[in-house]
Amino acid sequence: MRKLKIVGISGSLREDSFNQMLIQALDHSSENSCLFSHISLRDIPLYNQDDEKEMGVPSLILEIQSQLVECDGLLIASPEYNHSIPGVLKNAFDWLTRPAEKIETVFRDLPVGIVGVTPGKGGTVLAQKAWQPIIQTLGMKPFRLSSLALSDAEQIFSRSGELIDEQVLGDVEHFMKGYTQFIRNNTRNSLPDYYYRSHLEGDLSTYF
Ligand SMILES: Cc1cc2nc3c(=O)[nH]c(=O)nc-3n(C[C@H](O)[C@H](O)[C@H](O)COP(=O)(O)O)c2cc1C
Repeated sequence: MRKLKIVGISGSLREDSFNQMLIQALDHSSENSCLFSHISLRDIPLYNQDDEKEMGVPSLILEIQSQLVECDGLLIASPEYNHSIPGVLKNAFDWLTRPAEKIETVFRDLPVGIVGVTPGKGGTVLAQKAWQPIIQTLGMKPFRLSSLALSDAEQIFSRSGELIDEQVLGDVEHFMKGYTQFIRNNTRNSLPDYYYRSHLEGDLSTYF
């Protein structure tokens, strides 16, 4: 079976981010059925419409957009800040939706799984809920059958970032099995790759 290309985004800049650990745990549990690209938000500037007008979309954003066009599925590990999405993660998605004509090629029908972990007790469920209108607006396909909303991060991960709770390990594996099956059942598009590439480069003449 072909390996699935997954883009994993952790919405935290923190060195010892639990959400980054969760993305790593999902990568490990995919047992070589997936090829993961891990996206860092560290060098993404703050979105400013004046900057976009003057300098265009940063090359880093164009690079991530290309990865999203070429991947089979997106996994977002979203921390919960004030019962919603952290600013750095929302900022990254605001850039990734520019210019607006690219939303179609970058996001339409992209199978997406939202997961999250918190040291608290709420499992990031409110942040996950806050993703729903964004997923809908961008036309992505959400994996809803099995959720991964983890509490008590300090107990389930070791200091070195390993997932050490057997039950949670089982939950992560269960999630990953369901998510990869969901992707295989919902292949992203039927149009040839060059359509999407030329659309991304703003030149559809090669297709039409
Ligand atoms: C500004 C701020 C707001 C937060 N709000 C919440 C919250 O609403 N719910 C929650 O479970 N944790 C909240 N936390 C705690 C985060 O879950 C915790 O910092 C977590 O470690 C962040 O994820 P990370 O480990 O991937 O960086 C908040 C933390 C900060 C700094």
